[in-house]
Amino acid sequence: MKKNNNDLQHVCSFCKRNITIRSQYDMPIYDPQTGFAICKNCIKDIYGYIVEHDKRDEKSQNRKFVNSLDDILAKNKPHVIKEFLDQYIINQDRAKKILSVAVYNHYKRMKYGYTHDKRDMNIEKSNVIMLGPSGCGKTAMLQHLSKLLDIPFAVTDASSLTEAGFVGSDVEVAVRNLYYAADKNIEKAEHGIIYLDEFDKIARKSGANNSITADPGHEGVQQGLLKMMEGGVVEFTAQGQRKHPEAPTIKVDTTNILFIVGGAFVGIEEIIAKRLKTDNSGIGFGANVKTKNDKPVFNDLIHKVRPEDLIKFGIIPEIIGRLPVICTLEELTEDDLLKILTEPKNAPVRQYQELLAMDKVKLEFEHDALLAVAKKAIERKTGARSLRGILEDVMLDIMYEIPQSDEPRKVIITKDCIENHTQPKIEPISTNDTQTKSE
Ligand SMILES: Nc1ncnc2c1ncn2[C@@H]1O[C@H](COP(=O)(O)OP(=O)(O)OP(=O)(O)O)[C@@H](O)[C@H]1O
Ligand SMILES: [Mg+2]
Ligand SMILES: [Zn+2]
Repeated sequence: MKKNNNDLQHVCSFCKRNITIRSQYDMPIYDPQTGFAICKNCIKDIYGYIVEHDKRDEKSQNRKFVNSLDDILAKNKPHVIKEFLDQYIINQDRAKKILSVAVYNHYKRMKYGYTHDKRDMNIEKSNVIMLGPSGCGKTAMLQHLSKLLDIPFAVTDASSLTEAGFVGSDVEVAVRNLYYAADKNIEKAEHGIIYLDEFDKIARKSGANNSITADPGHEGVQQGLLKMMEGGVVEFTAQGQRKHPEAPTIKVDTTNILFIVGGAFVGIEEIIAKRLKTDNSGIGFGANVKTKNDKPVFNDLIHKVRPEDLIKFGIIPEIIGRLPVICTLEELTEDDLLKILTEPKNAPVRQYQELLAMDKVKLEFEHDALLAVAKKAIERKTGARSLRGILEDVMLDIMYEIPQSDEPRKVIITKDCIENHTQPKIEPISTNDTQTKSE
């Protein structure tokens, strides 16, 4: 570098101009070893070209997407989506149907939006609210569904959201997650699906039962989400960037984003039962929803849920009004849990079998053993959620002991193993024997 009137000067390797350097920003790229340098102006130009290129790229990508909508529609008929979900989710047929139709209609609405003038008619979206007990497959169903989608999909835990100004994430995070799921393609994000999990956790603390207790945090989150669901532009800063007035923001229009919310809504069945009782009082139908031991049958009740029950639970009426599709999931029965253990593509028993197969071990569960697992899970009242833990508990010793020998073996888990933690039956088998053969 030449010194001249106290000013450093250097030649830009790119535009070959002699640049006066007053701060490092005048020559942001400079390698003292080779003398290679690029000046501020050149970097700005290059940056401009890149932005323009990315924009063009995004536009052509979107055009490609619009052109492929017919194909997407053809391969995402509701029955096809449901068949896909059937491979992973046991029971919950009605919920699977509702979601399949919701996704298919979402694609159709998108096509309509691209091919028709909005002023003629706008096909309104049908946001979905899913409710069902803990561990019945709500989150799992959406996770599997997302693998099938040709549009961005993002799950946000509603319980992690707080009203602006409180410690935690603002509601905009839900849209930001979608934006990143869309690889920062705004137009794609604007046609995506947002799943708000644990939605019941933002209910006013005790719903209508106890309106004296103020609960500004949750009510505020609901107000924020409402604004988002009503459509309109949501503004947020890039990930990791602190929110301050000058921070550049990204704007996403939520008008066409499909919202699916889900939660366990613990205790909703009691609200439903209470309503049914008063609805029917005097005509004597109230007894219909009771069993012998006077306990409401959850699966009978849950399908009778009405918007007013959700409002009673503590969701503001305006939000309920934005969630026209109510999707109820059932409490899983012992029979369902038995199936979940072995039937889904990713069933836990299959997973253990694969794991042990790597040790040349054939793993078998006796039917009574599986039944014992299901019974244990029913006792724990967390649906299919506890199956995994119960199995893990039983399998630990086996997974510890088995790799100590290379001998091909067969391990048989009995009912006694599950109930009393006894050792499973272990029998040697011959190497090439895929069929079991005891010696
Ligand atoms: N109907 C089902 N079919 C197959 N697997 C299921 C089903 N329901 C639950 N599972 C399994 O049980 C586990 C827990 O289910 P999931 O996370 O979907 O529960 P959830 O309904 O979201 O409950 P929560 O309200 O507590 O969040 C998952 O690993 C899932 O694979
Ligand atoms: Mg869940
Ligand atoms: Zn230059």
